[in-house]
Parts: sequence; structure tokens; C-alpha cells
Amino acid sequence: MTSAAHRGAHRGARLEAVGTYVPSKVLTNADLAKLVDTTDEWIVRRTGIRERRVAAPDEFTSDLCTAAARDLFTRSGSSPDDVELVIVGTTTPDYAFPSVASQVQDRLGMRHAGAVDLQATCAGFAYGLHIANGLVSAGIHERVLVIAGETLTKVTDYTDRASCILFGDAAGAALVEPATPGSIRASVVGSHGEGGPHLYRTGLSCRIAGPAGAELAPGLMRQNGREVYRWAVETVAAGVSRLMERAGVTGDDIDWFIPHSANIRITEAVCERTGIPIARTLSSIECYGNTSAATIPLALAAGIAEDKIHRGDTVILYGFGGGLVHAGLLLEW
Ligand code: UT7
Repeated sequence: MTSAAHRGAHRGARLEAVGTYVPSKVLTNADLAKLVDTTDEWIVRRTGIRERRVAAPDEFTSDLCTAAARDLFTRSGSSPDDVELVIVGTTTPDYAFPSVASQVQDRLGMRHAGAVDLQATCAGFAYGLHIANGLVSAGIHERVLVIAGETLTKVTDYTDRASCILFGDAAGAALVEPATPGSIRASVVGSHGEGGPHLYRTGLSCRIAGPAGAELAPGLMRQNGREVYRWAVETVAAGVSRLMERAGVTGDDIDWFIPHSANIRITEAVCERTGIPIARTLSSIECYGNTSAATIPLALAAGIAEDKIHRGDTVILYGFGGGLVHAGLLLEW
């Protein structure tokens, strides 16, 4: 695991604004009980999920990401023209290429921006912020737009009750800009590639037909839930402790902890190990399920909208998922 503490009166970075988008179609636990042998009671008790959103057949990750970015710019002092780099964290791009980032860059008319997709599964938002923080702090870029978007329901196996109950579609975005001192105080990243077989997908494109109309077969997601669960609890607890140590704070100093919303029981177990009270966590699991890279910006945006997170609050964001990879940041909102 590599880590970095970012302090002092040097140029750093801050999150200027966040935006989100979720598709309108709701898939409830009762709906899933008609597809596989499960119950609302089992899903709520074992995961915390009540419902999730499903993208329309003709709605893809680039559409969700574009909408989340548009939402962000309604709340931001900056405009799309100010963005110098678009990073999209996604495991469900419309196509193998062109990238989702390039499609968003075009649709928002970001004339001065480079564009790149980042493949870090459910840790994509945290990895994107880690990279954007480095680029902005170093003075390489002024404004980096980090978007996390997924249409996991297009690659979910709706005959596998252990995984199909988990996933939903959403997108979230954050604009990273310079600040002196920076408000991103520490970050950590790590990878356990040996765990790759526990969570994987072989396909890349989410569209059944390619741009020229050829038929493609998207690979479905496979997960060994128990192994990923065990790894996540250990890894995230260790990563959060490392972040707090790097920033010189304890669990008492954390106003809000926003781990990737994969399963409410993972969050509870991490809280138990790190001493962060569960009451200080924010999650998007209940209404949106596991939306992979998008869960953290969804919970962050809701926390701000509900007047829970205030400027100056100390917040930990922690993503983890297929790879197996993880990344976390400790920042002042
Ligand atoms: O976002 C990327 C990272 N992913 C994660 O972090 C996911 C981590 N894993 C999990 O969240 C959990 O492992 C799951 C939610 C996927 C599964 O929960 P679990 O408590 O670990 O269940 P389990 O796999 O140990 O299965 C327990 C029992 C099994 O039955 P038996 O063998 O004990 O008879 C399963 O067949 O629950 C059964 N089961 C279900 N029963 C009703 C599995 N899925 C279901 C279901 N409804 N949907």
C-alpha cells in the first residue's frame, strides 16, 4: 500500500462541487423476488439494500456521466470550459473505445480538456480523486473533473441470486481545483491482484451492437461474495487506520466516513475495527444498492444536500472492489 500525507501551506487541491444522476426506473427487492429465490427480508438483513435504479435499454454509462457532470455545473462556480482533464472511473463503458470520458468531453463541449477512462472498479472515484489531487497539487492542471459512472445492471446475471440483488446504476462527479493549503490531507491506494478471480468480468463493452451494428456478447459479472467481504473488511479497516495515522487524527476527529456502499454489514464491521461510530457514516446502499464507483459521490452529494456535511468537516472516502483494489482519501470538505 502506498500512501501520502498532503499538508502545509503549499498548493494543494480541494473538491469544489459534486453532482449526481440516477436513472428513473426503480427495481425493488419484491421485483427481484419474482426473478430469483430470495426475499425482501433476506436482502435487507444481509445487505441493507431496499431498491436500486436501472438504466433504460438505450441509456448507457456515458449518458449517466454526462447528466452527473451537468448537475455538477449547476452547483459550481466553474464552467465546462474551465476543465483541463476529464477522468471517468467505470467498469461498464459504453464501448471498449471510444472512452466514456471522450464522449462526456464532447457532449459538454469541454474544448480545452483531455479525457481518459480509469479502470479501478468500485474504487474508481477514490482513485480518480487521488490522481486529480496529484495533478492539481503539482500545478500540472487547474481543474480536473472526476466522474464515476456505472450501468452494472447491464452486466449482472439475473439468474445468480447471490449477486443480482446487489447492483444498480448511477453516476457522480466532483470538480477538483487548486487550494492553498489543500483540503485533501492524505490518501492511500493498494492492490491485491491475487484476489482478482473473486470478482471479475470478461467483456468490456456494454452495448450489444457495436457502432457498425455487429453483435457483441457482454461478459456478465462473477463474484465470490464471501471472499470479497472478508478481504474488504480487513483491507478497508487497515487503510482507514493508515489514513488517520498519516493525517495525524483519530476516529474522534472524523465527522463523516463514506466507504463504498457494497454492504451495510461491511461498513459496520469496519467501524467496529476503526472506532468510527456507525452514526457518522454516510451510505447510498438503501435506495441505490451497489452502484460500484458511483456509491461514494452519491452518498457525499446526499450528505451535502441534507445539510449533514458542512464546509470544514473532516471526511474519509474509501473505495474498494474488483482487482482487488482499494483507495481512500481524508479531506476537509
Ligand atoms: O462492490 C464490490 C465489492 N463487493 C462486495 O463488497 C460484496 C461483498 N460480499 C457481500 O456483500 C456478501 O457476501 C453477499 C451479500 C454477496 C452475500 O451475503 P453473505 O452473508 O456473505 O451470504 P453467503 O454468500 O455466505 O450465503 C449465505 C446463504 C447461502 O445459503 P446456504 O449455503 O447457507 O444454504 C446462500 O445460498 O444465503 C444464501 N443466499 C441467499 N438467500 C436468499 C445467497 N444469496 C441469497 C439471496 N436470497 N439473494
